[in-house]
Amino acid sequence: PWSAARCNEIITSHSHVEGGVIVILHAIQDAFGYVPEPAIPMIAEARNLSRAEVHGVFTFYHDFRHEPAGKRVLKICRAEACQAAGGDALAARAEQKLGVKLGNTTADDRVTLEPIYCLGLCATAPSAMLDGKLVGRLDEKRMDALVAEAQR
Ligand code: FES
Repeated sequence: PWSAARCNEIITSHSHVEGGVIVILHAIQDAFGYVPEPAIPMIAEARNLSRAEVHGVFTFYHDFRHEPAGKRVLKICRAEACQAAGGDALAARAEQKLGVKLGNTTADDRVTLEPIYCLGLCATAPSAMLDGKLVGRLDEKRMDALVAEAQR
């Protein structure tokens, strides 16, 4: 669970890291599973930045979550090679099956659906990742199976 003291420790332990905002955000997300809102002003203060600057970094990178993730995290590649291979329709299909838009978690907290920008599997596009497991050569049938697996 979120703890301001723990968050402060993380920020302090990164005080020597160059260009540290991204690194700090990652460390906070690793610790809590997401970046809680109060962390933003804490980082800003420690780094002598404005809240808007830190918030800008936070929202620019799609890796950072605003809320705790669901039990499973299904990431769908939205980068070029996957889009060219029909990824748009598959992403829409996953959204429709799960009843949430990319970037959101299902109401039962089971599945978080997220976009990702290249999984390094362009040769077997379209691709996705369920928790740590990479899946390529997606088509409608394989996407449905992946969504079903995520919901189990
Ligand atoms: Fe999707 Fe590279 S573009 S894996």
